[in-house]
Amino acid sequence: MPIRYIPYDKVPVKGQAILNNITRSQRLLSYKDNDKVYERIIRGIPYYELKELEQVGEKSENLVIRGECLSACAYLKEQNIKIDLVYIDPPFASGADYAKKVYIRKNPALAEKIKKAEQKMDMEELVAFEEKMYGDIWSKEDYLNWMYENLMAIKEVMSDTASIYVHLDWHIGHYVKILMDEVFGEENFRNEIVWHYQSGGRQENLFSKKHDNIYFYSKSDKWIFNSDDVGELRGSEKRNNMKKEFDENGRAFVSIKSNGKIYKYYEDELITPADVWNISHIQQKDPQRVDYATQKPNSLLERIIKASSNKGMIVADFFGGSGVTAKVANDLGRRFIHCDIGINSIQTVRDRLKEAKADFKILEVQDGLNLFRNPIQTMDKLASLIDGLNTKKPEGINSFWFGTITNSKYGTIPVYAPDLRDSTKKVLDIVAINEVINKEIHNFDTFNGEVKKVIIYYVDIIDIDEIEKFIKDNNQTLIEVELKDLKQVLDFVVVDDKVEFNLNEDGLFYEVEIESFYSDRLKQKIDEYNSKQALKANGSYISISENGLELVEYISLDCTNDSGAWQSDSEIKIDKNGFVSIDGTKTKEFWNGKISSNTKPKRLKIRNIAGDEIIVIIN
Ligand SMILES: C[S@@+](CC[C@H](N)C(=O)[O-])C[C@H]1O[C@@H](n2cnc3c(N)ncnc32)[C@H](O)[C@@H]1O
Repeated sequence: MPIRYIPYDKVPVKGQAILNNITRSQRLLSYKDNDKVYERIIRGIPYYELKELEQVGEKSENLVIRGECLSACAYLKEQNIKIDLVYIDPPFASGADYAKKVYIRKNPALAEKIKKAEQKMDMEELVAFEEKMYGDIWSKEDYLNWMYENLMAIKEVMSDTASIYVHLDWHIGHYVKILMDEVFGEENFRNEIVWHYQSGGRQENLFSKKHDNIYFYSKSDKWIFNSDDVGELRGSEKRNNMKKEFDENGRAFVSIKSNGKIYKYYEDELITPADVWNISHIQQKDPQRVDYATQKPNSLLERIIKASSNKGMIVADFFGGSGVTAKVANDLGRRFIHCDIGINSIQTVRDRLKEAKADFKILEVQDGLNLFRNPIQTMDKLASLIDGLNTKKPEGINSFWFGTITNSKYGTIPVYAPDLRDSTKKVLDIVAINEVINKEIHNFDTFNGEVKKVIIYYVDIIDIDEIEKFIKDNNQTLIEVELKDLKQVLDFVVVDDKVEFNLNEDGLFYEVEIESFYSDRLKQKIDEYNSKQALKANGSYISISENGLELVEYISLDCTNDSGAWQSDSEIKIDKNGFVSIDGTKTKEFWNGKISSNTKPKRLKIRNIAGDEIIVIIN
C-alpha cells in the first residue's frame, strides 16, 4: 500500500477530458473507463517511500529515480520540489516491444592475447543476444487513461512558469494533444514541433513516415523562451525568388516592400527556428550512442533545454530511458531529475553521468514490487512462478485472465494477474473487483466446463476487508473469488548471481581479483540462444569460459559503507568491445579481471551484462 495519497491541487470535473465545450467533449472524448481515472485522481497520487541506492560524486540536488513517473511526482510534490522544464518521451503505444542487445565481453585472459597481437576488434565480431526492455503494447483507452493520470501528476510539480514537451508520434499523438488541451489548457498550447528525420525505410504505397510530434505547452501564460540561445542563421532563404543584394559592408540580404516600407532580411541574421526541426537520428558509430533502443539525439534536447530553461533550473524527464535529458541538462549547467521504471535505464544514465563527472543521488521507489529488471521481463517470468499456471487458456476463458490452474477439487481455475506494465492496474479497488464479479465471471457461461473458483492476484489493495465484504455482498454467482498477494510470488523472481574472489593487499593498495562469476539466468539465456543457432546452417555459438568473466559488465568497490547507500570508491566498466572505463574515464585497456583501491574495500558490487547486480560483503 502507498504510505498515503497526495491530493491533487486541482481536480478536473467528473467525466474526464471535459473541454470548455461540453458538446465536443462528449462526442469525441468519452471513451471506455474514463471514470476509473476520475476515481484515481480524486484519491490522489500514491506516495511510496524512496530508498537511497547510491550517491555519485558530491551531494547535489540532481536525482535519478528508479520507479514510475507517478511515484516520482508524488515524491517531488511531497518534497516541494518544483520543475522548470519537463521533457517526456513516453512509450508511444506503437505496438512494439523494445529490446536491448546484450554483448558478451572479452574474457580477461583472451583480451590479454588480443592486446599482444594488437588485433583490432570489429563490431561485427561481437556476439550478442537480446533482452526485452519495455513493451509498448496498449489498447488506446488504457493508454490514454494512463497518460492522463501521468500528465495530471506532472503538472502538479511544475513551477508556475514551467514548460512541458511531450514527444509522441502518429500512433497516439493526436489523442494525447486533446488530453493536454484539457490538463494544461488550450490557451497554454505553444507549439506542435515536427521532428523530421531521414532514417528508416521507405514505403511504396504511401508517403514514408519521417517525423515525430512534440507538443509544447506552458503551465501558465508566463513561460521562458530564450530565442537568442536557439537562434539560427537565416541563411540564403529567398522569398518569392527575390534577388540577393549586398549592402555597403558586403552583407547579403533580400528586400521586401510592404505598405510602402522596405524590409531587409540579412543572411547572417539569427532568427528563431520554425517548428519543423531537421535533426538526424544518432548514427551507428556516433560516440553519443549508448545502445538504448529509443535513444534520442543530444541536439534535439539541446534546443529544447536552451530555449525553455535557464542555467541552474531543474529539468526533469520522467521517462528518461538512455538519460539524454539529464546528460544534456548537466552539460548545459541545469539541474536534472531522471526517472525511469527499468533497471537498464538507471544503469545507463548512471554510467553516462558518471563519465560526465556529474553529481547526483540514485533513489528507488519502494512500491513493494520486486521487479525483475523491468515490468515486461517480470511479466514474462511471472507465469513460471505461479504454481501450475498455464497461460494457454481453454476456449471460453477470455484475455482478461492471465491463465488457468487445474486442480482436482475445483477443475479449471481462471487466474487474473495485473499487467505490471500498466500502473493503473496495480491497485485492486472496488472498481476493479466490481468488474470481476459483475462482468468477467458472468462470461464463463460460454465456457463449456464449470468454473467454481477464480484467483485474483493483486499488487496493492485498498482495504482487503472492505473488498472481501464487497465480494460477499455482490457476488451473485456460486463462483468462489480468492484474493492473493502477487508480491509474495515476486519475492522469488530474482535469483542472485555468484562470485568468487580474492583480496590481495600489498601495503599500498588493495586488489580484488575475480576468480569466477556465475549467472544461472544468463546461462539459461545463452543455452536458449545456442539451441536456436543449432537450427541454422552457419549458426554462431556463444561459449563462455569456466570462470565466466565474459559475463561481467561493471565492478565497483565501496570502501566507505558496509551497508545502506552504495559509495563507489573505485569502479571499472567493460564496454562491449572489451575496453575499460576506470572511474568514468574511458581507456583503450582490456580488463585484467581485477579491481583495486587505496583503502580497504568493504563491499563489492558486480553487474552482469544483462544488468543484474549483486553486492557482497568483503571480510
Ligand atoms: C521511449 S523511451 C525514452 C527514451 C529516451 N527519451 C531516450 O532518449 O533515451 C520510454 C521509457 O519509458 C520508460 N517507462 C515506461 N513506463 C514508465 C513509467 N510508468 N514510469 C517511468 N518510466 C516508464 C521505459 O522504461 C523507457 O525507458
